[in-house]
Amino acid sequence: MASDKMNKALNAQLNFEYYSAYVYLAMAAHADNIGLKGISSWFDAQYQEEMMHATKFLHYIMDRGVVELETIEKPRKEYKDVLEMFEVTLEHEQEVTAKINDLATLAIEEKDHATNSFLQWFINEQVEEEATVKEILDKLKLAGTTGPGLFMVNNELGARTFAPPADATE
Ligand code: FEO
Repeated sequence: MASDKMNKALNAQLNFEYYSAYVYLAMAAHADNIGLKGISSWFDAQYQEEMMHATKFLHYIMDRGVVELETIEKPRKEYKDVLEMFEVTLEHEQEVTAKINDLATLAIEEKDHATNSFLQWFINEQVEEEATVKEILDKLKLAGTTGPGLFMVNNELGARTFAPPADATE
């Protein structure tokens, strides 16, 4: 069993993963509203990925503690432009990384080896999450956030599909 402190921290992260899904779902809706179907599709895939992260936490807490579902904060609805959307996405992912690192530090302090092992998947995942968003930001800065440049990035991002890993629900 996870300690009460660890259980509380894992539930807080569960809520934050659902909130992350909500943030990206709102971004998908906003991008669709302004006619950027490819970017909307990219954020929809990001939303599905966050739901997969939440499911992983949910099942782990079911195995090791007690699930406490909380209210999910309302996400932001509109953005100045596409650049701002991806800047906010990068900041959000950096916040997730910090939270996962804090959880891993707590697991080490508590000698909770099972939780520390569970968190390694997320530590690796965050490296990829941040790198992917940084790459999109670089492309947007090069191609531009209006006209043909945006059209090109929009088309490219529309090719992303979400494929859950084989262990997604473990
Ligand atoms: Fe669940 Fe994008 O971190």
